[in-house]
Amino acid sequence: MTDDDNLETRLAEQDVFEPPESFVSQANVTDAGIYEEFEENWPECWEAAADLLDWYEGYDEVLDDSNPPFYEWFTGGSLNASHECVDRHLPERADEVAIEWVGEPEDEADRSITYGELHREVNEFAAALRELGVGEDDVVTMHMPMVPAHPIALLACARIGAPHSVVFAGFSASALAERMNAADSEYLITADGYYRRGDALDHLSKSREGVADVEHDVETVVVDRLGPNGDDHGHELRENEHDYDDLLAANEGTTVEPVERDAEDMLFLMYTSGTTGKPKGVKHTTGGYLAWTAWTSQAVLDVKPEDTYFCSADIGWITGHSYIVYGPLALGTTTTMYEGAPDYPEEDRFWEIIDDLDVTQFYTAPTAIRSFMKWGAEYPARHDLSSLRLLGTVGEPINPKPWKWYYKHIGGEECPIVDTWWQTETGGHMITTLPGVKDMKPGSAGPALPGVDAQIVDGDGEEVPAGGAGYLTVQKPWPGMLRTLYKNDERFIEEYWAEYSDTDSDDPADWVYFPEDGAKIDDEGYITVVGRVDDVVNVSGHRLGTMEIESAVVSAEGVAEAAVVGADDDLKGEVVHAYVILEGDAADEDTMRERIEAAVEEQIGPIARPAKVVFTPELPKTRSGKIMRRLLEEISDGEELGNTSTLRNPEVVRDIEAEVRGE
Ligand code: WTA
Repeated sequence: MTDDDNLETRLAEQDVFEPPESFVSQANVTDAGIYEEFEENWPECWEAAADLLDWYEGYDEVLDDSNPPFYEWFTGGSLNASHECVDRHLPERADEVAIEWVGEPEDEADRSITYGELHREVNEFAAALRELGVGEDDVVTMHMPMVPAHPIALLACARIGAPHSVVFAGFSASALAERMNAADSEYLITADGYYRRGDALDHLSKSREGVADVEHDVETVVVDRLGPNGDDHGHELRENEHDYDDLLAANEGTTVEPVERDAEDMLFLMYTSGTTGKPKGVKHTTGGYLAWTAWTSQAVLDVKPEDTYFCSADIGWITGHSYIVYGPLALGTTTTMYEGAPDYPEEDRFWEIIDDLDVTQFYTAPTAIRSFMKWGAEYPARHDLSSLRLLGTVGEPINPKPWKWYYKHIGGEECPIVDTWWQTETGGHMITTLPGVKDMKPGSAGPALPGVDAQIVDGDGEEVPAGGAGYLTVQKPWPGMLRTLYKNDERFIEEYWAEYSDTDSDDPADWVYFPEDGAKIDDEGYITVVGRVDDVVNVSGHRLGTMEIESAVVSAEGVAEAAVVGADDDLKGEVVHAYVILEGDAADEDTMRERIEAAVEEQIGPIARPAKVVFTPELPKTRSGKIMRRLLEEISDGEELGNTSTLRNPEVVRDIEAEVRGE
């Protein structure tokens, strides 16, 4: 029998896993009474999160819920995120490593940045930003690969009270321009390029193209990643562009007093996808967000200062903000960031990093775990992974099979796995097991965290009984929640609250947060989140709006109409399928396919590129003319078609089905 067969027989039947004793005996949270205690003591229970921070001015009130859903947390308190993540650790940990930066292998550029060095560089860059004109509350945009200057730039902004707005480096020039325009952001931090699978890739050209479409003047800071030893694509800095290293040199040794920020002052904005075509500017604040990421890093990821923690996400997504940068650094630990691909130079790259650095916690996405499984257990077997104490997953549902593979081959059956459900909007973890307290059930994220009131409801907002399925809701506010959508309170209410709240009421009990996910609940309160119920697709754990992709497809010359849906995929979770009606005089299908792919890459980025483009003379529509995407999704997934009786053109779905099957 092979190893995998063994796993099959031994673990396949097991659906509950107790936390390993070796873990429990040292865990940060071990008291099962915490659930009841937080419920009885809500919202004051969240003082436990605030207590992890070092406030300049103590807060007056834990929660001000006088104007729902515009909740305020730790009101009257003041703090600075850069002080929390850097300065306050100096007395004890100046010479300990804050950031282990791992570059691509042959480049040999790895950097261990101590808290002392981090303090120095954050201060110098904060001084430089001020000199460039960045003032308190000015939004600074970043479009950066995974270089050390990225977390340094976040902390430098936080230091001077300038909210950052990070646009994932894989997003296109137009996506960057749209977000800079929406946030009135006059500053951009980018890099000349980065290494990927041995190649020095150009990045600056894309950022520049974006800046060209911004409606106001922009000052750009360029990090020199490729340097003299790489191909820097011949970039010479232009007017309004500043070299990062020159700026640091000019401010060598300068210190900048951290600006005292009100708990409710904005720490950052992050644009994310929703139902409509326009990205939503999620606003997070200083006190609540930092308390939330610190508390969950401690309680869920079991982070301790002496750990070497590794989250494989990109800082361009919320997971990187909360669980590479802010949570771990607030706790004074060592956080690891990796520039490259998991399979370069070989498929054991992550295991090599874990082995080399003696990583204690590893946090990744189910899509990555499915790839690890496909590559095979021989890759982790090459390395000593015994330093690992805890594993985590985030971004999409994980099925029991990859869960068990992860548990056995990476965790050696000695590490609990936390399957963490949360969103850009929630700031940090919401539903997951506390690893030192709760049993794990592969496939289910677990119960809501203590103090988090998650409920599964039916279409009328009535709670479904144990064993039931419906829509996930959160019935009480929490400190890490988004405060609004940037400059759009109305859309904030519309998107997240209107569905299940009495929006005329000023009683917080009448306000219910709706994350737009479907979920099931069992008789022990374990929640399995099934996926989005809105027009959002989750490609390799990356959140994309089908409406945004649709508008890119339609912009391609020769496309008359299009519908984009998410189709199930074994590796990526979901992939994009585009159903397209061409204009009469459009080019041939191959040309059109290329044109559509190019339009999507240009307007959003390569991650949104359709895996399949299906040309069809018609799209299924209701009598009122709405495209029935659900039917297209069923076709893409090869499922039995649901009810087609409400269609104006029922025959068309059979034609499309035949077309797809025939391919
Ligand atoms: C999905 C990523 C199931 C969910 C942190 C959510 C998950 C969306 C899980 C948010 C999980 C995230 N199990 N589904 N453990 N974690 N999701 O904003 O659909 O990029 O609404 O935040 O990812 O994606 P976002």
